[in-house]
Amino acid sequence: MAVILVTGGAGFIGSHLVEYLLEQGHEVLSLDNYFTGCKANLRHLQEHARLELIRHDIVSPIMLEVEQIYHLACPASPVHYQYNPVKTIKTNVMGTLNMLGLAKRVKARILLASTSEVYGDPLMHPQKEDYWGNVNCLGLRSCYDEGKRVAETLMMDYHRQNGVDIRIARIFNTYGPRMALNDGRVISNFIVQALTGQDITVYGEGRQTRSFCYVSDLVEGLVRLMNCPDFHEPVNLGNPEEYPIVDLARKIIALTHSPSRLVFGPLPPDDPAQRQPDISRARNLLQWQPTVPLEEGLKNTIPYFMKILGELKRTVVAGPFAPGL
Ligand SMILES: NC(=O)c1ccc[n+]([C@@H]2O[C@H](COP(=O)([O-])OP(=O)(O)OC[C@H]3O[C@@H](n4cnc5c(N)ncnc54)[C@H](O)[C@@H]3O)[C@@H](O)[C@H]2O)c1
Repeated sequence: MAVILVTGGAGFIGSHLVEYLLEQGHEVLSLDNYFTGCKANLRHLQEHARLELIRHDIVSPIMLEVEQIYHLACPASPVHYQYNPVKTIKTNVMGTLNMLGLAKRVKARILLASTSEVYGDPLMHPQKEDYWGNVNCLGLRSCYDEGKRVAETLMMDYHRQNGVDIRIARIFNTYGPRMALNDGRVISNFIVQALTGQDITVYGEGRQTRSFCYVSDLVEGLVRLMNCPDFHEPVNLGNPEEYPIVDLARKIIALTHSPSRLVFGPLPPDDPAQRQPDISRARNLLQWQPTVPLEEGLKNTIPYFMKILGELKRTVVAGPFAPGL
């Protein structure tokens, strides 16, 4: 069993990963500055003998003895990463440098949670890992997109120059329990709007498509990639099934039995029209593919949001734009 560091361990994906690694018998260090993550995400594990919680900001270096590093720390939703764009770039660049420095010193294998956003508004569909992307380096999203692109570059350079054992996961839209209520992403937005009977806001005509991967599938993919021997190129992890946004909205209305109506608003700038992973590399290399259908994943996620909405008056919701607290 290994000693494993998870940066961003109190976040949405990080907390599921921490839980999974503990179940596998590992010793886990969760490192987080609690910007978008929260202790409540790990509360059910806080007495666990093999879990240690570290409050730290990865923009500053840290010295730890670990064998593997899952590097997830970075706000992931536009509303959070645009709150302080300079800090987002620092987290991606200085934070990744610090984690790579640590990996180099202690000879740990390091996995970067990169993103499909490195493909920008893709001109190739679906996106394969060898597509270089179409990113606006000046736009509002570039603190995140370009930040992650630099993080990937740093990973490759530390690998080539210093022999650091790297893995790069390009994660596509992931959803599930413990997504922040206020993160402004499409699944959390639609579920909250449906459960509270508000109009459901669809950008444009809702014909833009997205693919949605349930969090347990994603975590399985991350762990397989980390433990796959000797592969250092990026690997797409996501669900290749594509859904028009307007169909997703209708599905959520049906599953929540909501009286909500659909309303249509202007498309945000740089909003990609299509995003769908080509996961042949993950299929061949990791024998991995998503197993949880969208409807089942939504049925697992909706009760989480019902609970959080029910507790709202007593619960501090993560992130800078927590509603009405
Ligand atoms: N959720 C998705 O659909 C998705 C898609 C693509 C990529 N990713 C990547 O996966 C990772 C996790 O995403 P998530 O959805 O769980 O987001 P999240 O915001 O829930 O989790 C990020 C965690 O990192 C922490 N963090 C942020 N900045 C930090 C800093 N400077 N120092 C220490 N901790 C810091 C936050 O407090 C939070 O706990 C991110 O790197 C994100 O870019 C996520």
